Amino acid sequence: MAETLTIRRPDDWHLHLRDGAVLKSVLPYTTQQFGRAIVMPNLTPPITTTAAANAYRNRIVAAIPEGVSFKPLMTAYLTNGTDADALAAGYRDGAYVAAKLYPAHATTNSSAGVTDIRNIDGVLERMAEVGMPLLVHGEVTDPAVDIFDREAVFIDKVLEPLIKRLPTLRIVFEHATTERAVQFIRQAGAHIGATITPHHLLLNRNAMFQGGIRPHHYCLPVVKREKHRLALVEAATSGDPHFFLGTDSAPHAVAAKETACGCAGIFNAPTAIELYAEVFDSAGALDRLEAFASLNGPRFYGLPVNQQTITLERSPMTVPDAVALPDGGEIRPFRAGETLAWRFVT
Ligand code: DOR
Ligand code: ZN
Repeated sequence: MAETLTIRRPDDWHLHLRDGAVLKSVLPYTTQQFGRAIVMPNLTPPITTTAAANAYRNRIVAAIPEGVSFKPLMTAYLTNGTDADALAAGYRDGAYVAAKLYPAHATTNSSAGVTDIRNIDGVLERMAEVGMPLLVHGEVTDPAVDIFDREAVFIDKVLEPLIKRLPTLRIVFEHATTERAVQFIRQAGAHIGATITPHHLLLNRNAMFQGGIRPHHYCLPVVKREKHRLALVEAATSGDPHFFLGTDSAPHAVAAKETACGCAGIFNAPTAIELYAEVFDSAGALDRLEAFASLNGPRFYGLPVNQQTITLERSPMTVPDAVALPDGGEIRPFRAGETLAWRFVT
Protein backbone atom coordinates (compact mmCIF):
# COMPACT_ATOMS: atom_id res chain seq x y z
CA MET A 1 0.00 0.00 0.00
CA ALA A 2 1.33 3.40 -0.91
CA GLU A 3 1.96 5.83 1.93
CA THR A 4 -0.87 8.32 2.24
CA LEU A 5 -1.29 11.70 3.87
CA THR A 6 -4.68 13.01 4.93
CA ILE A 7 -5.06 16.64 5.97
CA ARG A 8 -7.90 19.05 6.44
CA ARG A 9 -8.97 20.51 3.10
CA PRO A 10 -6.60 23.39 2.33
CA ASP A 11 -7.44 26.88 1.06
CA ASP A 12 -5.56 28.96 -1.49
CA TRP A 13 -5.01 32.42 0.00
CA HIS A 14 -3.73 33.97 -3.27
CA LEU A 15 -5.13 32.97 -6.64
CA HIS A 16 -5.69 34.41 -10.12
CA LEU A 17 -8.77 32.95 -11.81
CA ARG A 18 -9.12 35.42 -14.72
CA ASP A 19 -12.52 35.51 -16.41
CA GLY A 20 -14.60 34.10 -19.26
CA ALA A 21 -13.28 30.99 -21.02
CA VAL A 22 -10.02 30.96 -19.06
CA LEU A 23 -11.91 31.04 -15.76
CA LYS A 24 -13.99 28.05 -16.86
CA SER A 25 -10.87 26.15 -17.95
CA VAL A 26 -8.74 26.75 -14.84
CA LEU A 27 -11.26 26.87 -11.97
CA PRO A 28 -11.89 23.08 -11.69
CA TYR A 29 -8.23 22.48 -10.84
CA THR A 30 -8.52 24.73 -7.81
CA THR A 31 -11.96 23.59 -6.67
CA GLN A 32 -10.81 19.98 -6.73
CA GLN A 33 -8.16 20.60 -4.08
CA PHE A 34 -9.12 23.73 -2.17
CA GLY A 35 -12.15 24.69 -0.11
CA ARG A 36 -11.80 28.46 -0.55
CA ALA A 37 -9.57 30.87 -2.40
CA ILE A 38 -8.73 34.55 -2.13
CA VAL A 39 -9.38 35.73 -5.68
CA MET A 40 -7.12 38.45 -7.01
CA PRO A 41 -8.86 41.48 -8.52
CA ASN A 42 -6.43 42.31 -11.35
CA LEU A 43 -8.86 41.80 -14.21
CA THR A 44 -9.21 44.31 -17.05
CA PRO A 45 -10.86 46.47 -15.88
CA PRO A 46 -9.88 45.76 -12.26
CA ILE A 47 -12.39 44.94 -9.53
CA THR A 48 -12.81 48.31 -7.83
CA THR A 49 -16.49 48.29 -6.81
CA THR A 50 -18.76 45.99 -4.85
CA ALA A 51 -20.95 45.64 -7.94
CA ALA A 52 -17.97 44.37 -9.94
CA ALA A 53 -16.89 42.05 -7.10
CA ASN A 54 -20.39 40.58 -6.74
CA ALA A 55 -20.75 40.07 -10.48
CA TYR A 56 -17.30 38.42 -10.65
CA ARG A 57 -18.18 36.19 -7.69
CA ASN A 58 -21.36 35.12 -9.51
CA ARG A 59 -19.39 34.24 -12.65
CA ILE A 60 -16.96 32.18 -10.56
CA VAL A 61 -19.76 30.39 -8.70
CA ALA A 62 -21.47 29.61 -12.03
CA ALA A 63 -18.23 27.97 -13.23
CA ILE A 64 -17.80 25.67 -10.19
CA PRO A 65 -18.21 22.06 -11.33
CA GLU A 66 -21.47 20.33 -10.31
CA GLY A 67 -21.49 18.91 -6.80
CA VAL A 68 -18.27 20.62 -5.70
CA SER A 69 -18.21 22.84 -2.64
CA PHE A 70 -15.96 25.89 -3.05
CA LYS A 71 -16.13 29.46 -1.79
CA PRO A 72 -14.44 32.32 -3.63
CA LEU A 73 -13.34 35.13 -1.33
CA MET A 74 -13.34 38.40 -3.20
CA THR A 75 -10.89 41.29 -3.01
CA ALA A 76 -10.94 44.95 -3.99
CA TYR A 77 -8.24 46.49 -6.18
CA LEU A 78 -6.93 49.68 -4.61
CA THR A 79 -6.35 52.72 -6.81
CA ASN A 80 -5.33 56.31 -6.08
CA GLY A 81 -9.04 57.10 -6.17
CA THR A 82 -10.42 54.38 -3.87
CA ASP A 83 -13.17 55.74 -1.64
CA ALA A 84 -12.65 54.74 2.00
CA ASP A 85 -16.37 54.72 2.86
CA ALA A 86 -17.31 52.56 -0.10
CA LEU A 87 -14.46 50.13 0.58
CA ALA A 88 -15.32 49.80 4.28
CA ALA A 89 -18.99 49.28 3.40
CA GLY A 90 -18.00 46.54 0.94
CA TYR A 91 -16.01 44.82 3.67
CA ARG A 92 -18.82 45.18 6.22
CA ASP A 93 -21.38 43.77 3.77
CA GLY A 94 -19.19 40.82 2.79
CA ALA A 95 -18.60 41.85 -0.82
CA TYR A 96 -14.85 41.80 -0.11
CA VAL A 97 -12.72 40.04 2.48
CA ALA A 98 -9.62 42.15 1.80
CA ALA A 99 -8.14 44.83 -0.45
CA LYS A 100 -5.10 44.39 -2.69
CA LEU A 101 -2.35 46.94 -3.09
CA TYR A 102 -0.63 46.77 -6.45
CA PRO A 103 2.05 49.42 -6.74
CA ALA A 104 1.31 50.86 -10.20
CA HIS A 105 3.14 48.95 -12.96
CA ALA A 106 4.56 46.35 -10.55
CA THR A 107 3.01 43.41 -12.41
CA THR A 108 0.22 42.09 -14.68
CA ASN A 109 -2.76 44.47 -14.93
CA SER A 110 -1.40 46.83 -12.30
CA SER A 111 -1.38 50.04 -14.35
CA ALA A 112 -4.45 51.26 -12.41
CA GLY A 113 -2.65 50.54 -9.13
CA VAL A 114 -1.42 52.99 -6.52
CA THR A 115 1.37 55.35 -7.64
CA ASP A 116 2.38 56.34 -4.09
CA ILE A 117 1.11 54.66 -0.94
CA ARG A 118 0.67 58.05 0.71
CA ASN A 119 -2.13 58.71 -1.81
CA ILE A 120 -4.26 56.15 0.04
CA ASP A 121 -3.43 57.07 3.65
CA GLY A 122 -7.11 57.73 4.43
CA VAL A 123 -8.18 54.39 2.92
CA LEU A 124 -5.56 52.47 4.91
CA GLU A 125 -6.56 54.26 8.13
CA ARG A 126 -10.14 53.22 7.56
CA MET A 127 -9.10 49.64 6.82
CA ALA A 128 -7.19 49.55 10.11
CA GLU A 129 -10.27 50.88 11.93
CA VAL A 130 -12.62 48.28 10.50
CA GLY A 131 -10.11 45.40 10.57
CA MET A 132 -10.03 44.89 6.79
CA PRO A 133 -6.85 43.08 5.68
CA LEU A 134 -4.47 44.74 3.22
CA LEU A 135 -2.85 42.32 0.77
CA VAL A 136 0.36 43.70 -0.66
CA HIS A 137 2.34 43.06 -3.78
CA GLY A 138 5.57 44.01 -2.02
CA GLU A 139 7.84 45.39 -4.68
CA VAL A 140 8.94 48.92 -5.48
CA THR A 141 8.62 49.88 -9.12
CA ASP A 142 11.48 52.35 -9.43
CA PRO A 143 13.31 51.18 -12.55
CA ALA A 144 16.58 52.26 -10.94
CA VAL A 145 16.16 49.52 -8.32
CA ASP A 146 17.51 46.13 -9.41
CA ILE A 147 14.62 43.72 -9.99
CA PHE A 148 16.11 41.23 -7.52
CA ASP A 149 16.17 43.91 -4.79
CA ARG A 150 12.68 45.32 -5.27
CA GLU A 151 11.10 43.29 -2.49
CA ALA A 152 13.73 44.14 0.13
CA VAL A 153 13.57 47.83 -0.81
CA PHE A 154 9.77 47.74 -0.54
CA ILE A 155 10.05 46.36 2.99
CA ASP A 156 12.47 49.11 4.02
CA LYS A 157 10.87 52.05 2.24
CA VAL A 158 7.16 51.22 2.24
CA LEU A 159 6.16 48.38 4.56
CA GLU A 160 8.11 49.25 7.68
CA PRO A 161 7.00 52.91 7.65
CA LEU A 162 3.41 51.79 6.95
CA ILE A 163 3.40 49.50 9.98
CA LYS A 164 4.81 52.35 12.10
CA ARG A 165 2.04 54.67 10.93
CA LEU A 166 -0.73 52.08 11.28
CA PRO A 167 0.40 49.47 13.81
CA THR A 168 -2.97 47.71 13.94
CA LEU A 169 -3.50 47.35 10.17
CA ARG A 170 -3.82 43.66 9.22
CA ILE A 171 -1.42 42.93 6.37
CA VAL A 172 -0.63 39.92 4.22
CA PHE A 173 2.73 40.16 2.49
CA GLU A 174 1.84 38.20 -0.63
CA HIS A 175 4.19 35.77 -2.36
CA ALA A 176 7.22 36.40 -0.13
CA THR A 177 10.42 35.66 -2.05
CA THR A 178 13.38 36.69 0.08
CA GLU A 179 15.18 35.97 3.32
CA ARG A 180 14.58 39.63 4.20
CA ALA A 181 10.80 39.13 3.93
CA VAL A 182 10.94 35.97 6.03
CA GLN A 183 12.93 37.69 8.78
CA PHE A 184 10.65 40.70 8.72
CA ILE A 185 7.41 38.73 8.88
CA ARG A 186 8.65 36.35 11.52
CA GLN A 187 9.24 39.12 14.05
CA ALA A 188 5.97 40.92 13.23
CA GLY A 189 2.76 40.66 15.24
CA ALA A 190 0.08 38.04 14.65
CA HIS A 191 -1.91 40.56 12.56
CA ILE A 192 0.79 40.36 9.87
CA GLY A 193 1.20 37.27 7.73
CA ALA A 194 2.67 36.12 4.44
CA THR A 195 1.79 33.71 1.67
CA ILE A 196 4.40 31.55 -0.04
CA THR A 197 3.97 30.00 -3.50
CA PRO A 198 5.03 26.49 -4.57
CA HIS A 199 7.27 27.86 -7.30
CA HIS A 200 9.20 30.14 -4.96
CA LEU A 201 9.74 27.09 -2.73
CA LEU A 202 10.97 24.96 -5.62
CA LEU A 203 12.92 27.27 -7.94
CA ASN A 204 15.85 29.58 -7.68
CA ARG A 205 16.74 32.15 -10.30
CA ASN A 206 18.89 29.73 -12.29
CA ALA A 207 15.62 28.09 -13.34
CA MET A 208 14.79 31.12 -15.51
CA PHE A 209 17.94 30.62 -17.58
CA GLN A 210 18.48 26.86 -17.58
CA GLY A 211 19.89 26.09 -21.04
CA GLY A 212 18.04 29.10 -22.47
CA ILE A 213 15.37 31.58 -21.46
CA ARG A 214 12.52 29.82 -19.65
CA PRO A 215 9.37 31.93 -19.86
CA HIS A 216 7.32 29.43 -17.85
CA HIS A 217 9.57 30.09 -14.86
CA TYR A 218 9.02 33.83 -15.04
CA CYS A 219 6.72 35.34 -12.45
CA LEU A 220 6.66 38.44 -10.29
CA PRO A 221 8.25 38.88 -7.89
CA VAL A 222 10.91 36.93 -9.81
CA VAL A 223 12.42 33.85 -8.19
CA LYS A 224 15.58 34.71 -6.29
CA ARG A 225 18.93 33.17 -5.26
CA GLU A 226 19.11 29.75 -3.62
CA LYS A 227 19.65 31.21 -0.13
CA HIS A 228 16.28 32.93 -0.42
CA ARG A 229 14.55 29.76 -1.56
CA LEU A 230 16.03 27.96 1.45
CA ALA A 231 14.77 30.70 3.80
CA LEU A 232 11.27 30.33 2.32
CA VAL A 233 11.33 26.55 2.74
CA GLU A 234 12.45 26.98 6.34
CA ALA A 235 9.64 29.49 7.01
CA ALA A 236 6.89 27.46 5.35
CA THR A 237 7.86 24.19 6.98
CA SER A 238 8.60 25.66 10.43
CA GLY A 239 4.98 25.67 11.56
CA ASP A 240 5.23 29.43 12.27
CA PRO A 241 1.61 30.65 11.94
CA HIS A 242 2.68 33.84 10.12
CA PHE A 243 3.15 31.79 6.94
CA PHE A 244 0.41 30.18 4.88
CA LEU A 245 -0.39 28.74 1.49
CA GLY A 246 -1.01 31.04 -1.48
CA THR A 247 -0.27 29.56 -4.89
CA ASP A 248 -0.30 32.77 -6.95
CA SER A 249 -1.35 30.43 -9.73
CA ALA A 250 -1.47 32.88 -12.64
CA PRO A 251 -2.54 31.42 -15.98
CA HIS A 252 -1.47 33.05 -19.23
CA ALA A 253 -1.89 31.56 -22.70
CA VAL A 254 1.30 29.99 -24.01
CA ALA A 255 1.35 32.57 -26.81
CA ALA A 256 1.49 35.36 -24.22
CA LYS A 257 4.40 33.72 -22.38
CA GLU A 258 6.50 32.46 -25.29
CA THR A 259 7.06 35.79 -26.98
CA ALA A 260 9.49 38.71 -27.09
CA CYS A 261 7.91 40.32 -24.02
CA GLY A 262 6.28 37.49 -22.11
CA CYS A 263 3.76 37.83 -19.30
CA ALA A 264 4.67 37.12 -15.69
CA GLY A 265 2.87 34.25 -14.02
CA ILE A 266 3.17 30.55 -13.29
CA PHE A 267 0.13 28.29 -13.58
CA ASN A 268 0.49 25.74 -10.79
CA ALA A 269 -3.17 25.03 -9.93
CA PRO A 270 -3.33 21.53 -11.51
CA THR A 271 -0.83 20.13 -8.98
CA ALA A 272 -0.62 22.80 -6.28
CA ILE A 273 -0.95 20.63 -3.19
CA GLU A 274 1.30 17.93 -4.68
CA LEU A 275 4.04 20.54 -5.19
CA TYR A 276 3.76 21.75 -1.61
CA ALA A 277 3.79 18.13 -0.39
CA GLU A 278 7.04 17.57 -2.28
CA VAL A 279 8.62 20.59 -0.56
CA PHE A 280 7.47 19.53 2.91
CA ASP A 281 8.51 15.93 2.27
CA SER A 282 12.01 16.97 1.17
CA ALA A 283 12.30 19.06 4.33
CA GLY A 284 11.17 16.13 6.50
CA ALA A 285 8.17 18.20 7.59
CA LEU A 286 5.10 16.47 6.12
CA ASP A 287 3.55 16.66 9.60
CA ARG A 288 3.52 20.47 9.25
CA LEU A 289 1.88 20.66 5.83
CA GLU A 290 -1.58 20.86 7.35
CA ALA A 291 -0.74 23.89 9.49
CA PHE A 292 0.66 25.77 6.49
CA ALA A 293 -2.03 24.68 4.02
CA SER A 294 -5.18 24.43 6.09
CA LEU A 295 -4.88 26.08 9.53
CA ASN A 296 -2.69 29.21 9.51
CA GLY A 297 -4.64 31.00 6.77
CA PRO A 298 -8.09 30.64 8.35
CA ARG A 299 -6.62 31.72 11.66
CA PHE A 300 -5.21 34.88 10.11
CA TYR A 301 -8.46 35.71 8.32
CA GLY A 302 -10.62 34.81 11.33
CA LEU A 303 -12.49 32.13 9.39
CA PRO A 304 -13.38 28.58 10.42
CA VAL A 305 -11.12 25.78 9.21
CA ASN A 306 -12.57 23.43 6.61
CA GLN A 307 -14.31 20.34 7.92
CA GLN A 308 -13.57 18.05 4.98
CA THR A 309 -10.22 16.37 4.38
CA ILE A 310 -8.11 15.57 1.34
CA THR A 311 -5.78 12.64 0.82
CA LEU A 312 -2.48 12.50 -1.01
CA GLU A 313 -0.58 9.36 -1.89
CA ARG A 314 3.12 8.87 -2.42
CA SER A 315 2.94 7.59 -5.97
CA PRO A 316 4.24 9.10 -9.19
CA MET A 317 1.98 11.35 -11.24
CA THR A 318 2.69 13.13 -14.48
CA VAL A 319 1.76 16.78 -14.76
CA PRO A 320 -0.48 17.43 -17.79
CA ASP A 321 1.33 18.94 -20.79
CA ALA A 322 -1.24 21.63 -21.40
CA VAL A 323 -4.70 22.86 -20.55
CA ALA A 324 -6.64 23.54 -23.74
CA LEU A 325 -8.57 26.78 -24.22
CA PRO A 326 -11.68 26.96 -26.40
CA ASP A 327 -10.02 29.48 -28.74
CA GLY A 328 -7.40 26.87 -29.68
CA GLY A 329 -4.78 28.28 -27.34
CA GLU A 330 -3.38 26.48 -24.33
CA ILE A 331 -1.92 27.12 -20.90
CA ARG A 332 1.27 25.38 -19.83
CA PRO A 333 1.17 24.17 -16.22
CA PHE A 334 4.18 24.40 -13.95
CA ARG A 335 6.37 21.28 -14.42
CA ALA A 336 4.34 20.20 -17.47
CA GLY A 337 5.19 16.66 -18.51
CA GLU A 338 7.33 16.04 -15.42
CA THR A 339 6.70 13.40 -12.78
CA LEU A 340 5.84 14.39 -9.21
CA ALA A 341 6.29 12.17 -6.17
CA TRP A 342 2.91 12.85 -4.56
CA ARG A 343 -0.49 12.45 -6.12
CA PHE A 344 -3.76 14.04 -5.02
CA VAL A 345 -6.24 11.19 -4.54
CA THR A 346 -9.43 12.72 -3.23
O1 DOR B 1 3.65 36.47 -11.74
C1 DOR B 1 2.66 37.12 -11.47
N1 DOR B 1 1.52 37.01 -12.17
N2 DOR B 1 2.73 38.00 -10.47
C2 DOR B 1 1.74 38.86 -10.21
O2 DOR B 1 1.89 39.65 -9.32
C3 DOR B 1 0.53 38.88 -11.05
C4 DOR B 1 0.32 37.61 -11.74
C5 DOR B 1 -0.69 37.70 -12.87
O3 DOR B 1 -1.77 38.27 -12.65
O4 DOR B 1 -0.40 37.20 -13.94
ZN1 ZN C 1 -0.69 37.22 -7.65
